[in-house]
Amino acid sequence: MALVNILHMKVGDGESSYASNSVVQETGIQTGIQKVIPFLKRSIKGVINNDVFNDCFTVADLGCASGTNALLVSSNIIDVVHEVCQENNLKVPQFQVCLNDLFGNDFNTIFKLLPEYYANLKRNKGERFGPCFVSAVPGSFYDRIFPDQSVHFVHSGFSLNWLSQVPQGLENNGTNIYMSKTSPSNVYEEYGKQWHTDFTKFLQMRSEEIVHGGSMVLTFPARSIVDPTSEDGSALMELLGQSLVDMLKEGLVQESDINSFNIPAYIPWFKGFGLDRVNQMFDPRSSRDRID
Ligand SMILES: C[S@@+](CC[C@H](N)C(=O)[O-])C[C@H]1O[C@@H](n2cnc3c(N)ncnc32)[C@H](O)[C@@H]1O
Repeated sequence: MALVNILHMKVGDGESSYASNSVVQETGIQTGIQKVIPFLKRSIKGVINNDVFNDCFTVADLGCASGTNALLVSSNIIDVVHEVCQENNLKVPQFQVCLNDLFGNDFNTIFKLLPEYYANLKRNKGERFGPCFVSAVPGSFYDRIFPDQSVHFVHSGFSLNWLSQVPQGLENNGTNIYMSKTSPSNVYEEYGKQWHTDFTKFLQMRSEEIVHGGSMVLTFPARSIVDPTSEDGSALMELLGQSLVDMLKEGLVQESDINSFNIPAYIPWFKGFGLDRVNQMFDPRSSRDRID
């Protein structure tokens, strides 16, 4: 079955759900949602200055998952639009917030948070604010998910690391489940190729959906070291792989299952995008606040 039809975060809001275990994404040391706010501000100011929307500002959060993070992003975006409009004596628009994730995502947990979300907006911004309309858009962001030229601002956080499929040709990766030091070199190549294909497709799709003068902020983990097996890029996957091998030794899983399992995720390397660069970007004394 295609990956996009089965992949989803753990549903509900129980102890082991995604909703209760996404603090890293929210406040992560380097690029959590809170850290991204200055970038959102700069980017949204650009959209407003480009004068590309009339009465309704359409926002899309791609790979929203479920839980409070899904609404936190749109809430921050609405705050920024509201602030910039007030600073410039502009009428605050209505908002259309489109929450996208794969078909198996637990959108219901988000919907249950909406009454409080709408009430908070009214309380904080006044009765005449908006209104704001939140909707779910199930589908893969590697395909078209919106009509032509219909979105003003796209955000995606911690989602683009998921590939559209497990790369082809990994049969010789043995009990490794990702790019490991003992992986044959074709494994690195196939992962890199899949990332390139997927990221290119993502950008192509969005280029058709975002209005001219619209904008996009994407955050996702990247590695600062070229070697894909460096701890920087694969430490978590290594731990997971080792746990599976331990389970194999205890007879809890079969070797053939591990041999046929590879994670459909990728931590890309960006030239010059090491931790120093990230720290510089988030340093308020630095005049550089964007990725070139
Ligand atoms: C780690 S969660 C991040 C969720 C949220 N943005 C946050 O910051 O907490 C990654 C999300 O991306 C979604 N995702 C992965 N591949 C996707 C795709 N091709 N299209 C849409 N969503 C996808 C997953 O289902 C998952 O909910």
